[in-house]
Amino acid sequence: MTMDRRQALTHIIGISGAAAGSVLMANPVLAATSTAEGWSLQLKERLAYAKLDPHAVAKAAYEAGNGCMYQVFHGLVASLAASSSVDAAKFAQIPTAMAHYGYAGILGEGSVCGNVNATGMLFNLLSINGEPANPYLTRVLRYYEQEALPLRDEAFLNAIGANTEEKKAAVGKPTVAGSVLCHSSITNWARENGKNAAEKGERCSELSATIAYQIVVILNKAMDGEDLSGINDITDTVGSCQTCHTKAESFGPSVMTNMECDVCHGGH
Ligand code: HEC
Ligand code: HEC
Repeated sequence: MTMDRRQALTHIIGISGAAAGSVLMANPVLAATSTAEGWSLQLKERLAYAKLDPHAVAKAAYEAGNGCMYQVFHGLVASLAASSSVDAAKFAQIPTAMAHYGYAGILGEGSVCGNVNATGMLFNLLSINGEPANPYLTRVLRYYEQEALPLRDEAFLNAIGANTEEKKAAVGKPTVAGSVLCHSSITNWARENGKNAAEKGERCSELSATIAYQIVVILNKAMDGEDLSGINDITDTVGSCQTCHTKAESFGPSVMTNMECDVCHGGH
């Protein structure tokens, strides 16, 4: 019985035995079997995050397919459904198919990247040690904007099963998006690698696996009560703009954003 469940879980979220044993199988009875009758997520209700294995979740996101937003949202929610969270059974009831719409910057519009959209949708229903996960969103977005992605290290590529010459050639060099927009992420990548947006499939799949990985890194640290300052902060430039341009300012048009100002505005 135990073996059957283990195998089923490994099959569902695509994790290796070692990872399953260490983190995801912390609860041997696999709590995600039943919820209170008729349970559905209520407005502002939060479900408890439990620590996950970043590589295993990256793999789950990579294998989920069906576009960036679904990959990240489903990868995380399915992993939490199989975790030791007291809310595992509730995670299993979340209709992750709702997240499909966010692919390619919302139904192919190239606007807000689905990785970013998925993270917001997820964090708005998560709690970390009883507190809302919302404040951690900015760190995932800054990571998305600032880092050369997707991850290229061997451990990551092996974990998701993408360490082949063919896949490495399809992805090419990792690039910095500089923005939370799908458009700039893809165009910066296409320019650097001499490819076109139609060839983005493997690269975007691995980018979603990367964001799923980093979400887990950040939330695990948050769960441990670590000080996250210095990890995916706003840039110094944005910080300097924000010394004057804030929500509350009265000298000119009010500004409310943490996005990288200098991608769109010159200095003054
Ligand atoms: C020392 C305070 C201060 C800092 C720092 C600052 N600004 Fe401003 N900014 C102002 C003021 C004052 C105005 C004028 C507002 C007006 O006249 O309507 C302004 C106007 C602007 C405008 C509109 C007018 C224009 O010049 O195009 C933009 C855009 C802008 N700032 C962007 C930025 C960005 C981006 C940064 C960071 C790189 C930044 N600001 C840093 C004070 C500041
Ligand atoms: C994705 C692009 C983008 C980013 C990133 C961005 N802005 Fe803007 N910002 C705009 C656009 C577009 C407008 C509206 C300009 C218009 O219609 O005249 C605007 C307007 C403004 C204005 C009013 C300008 C005016 O002439 O009245 C200020 C001030 C400003 N932004 C500051 C900032 C600051 C500070 C940041 C970073 C914290 C920032 N913006 C990030 C695109 C951006």
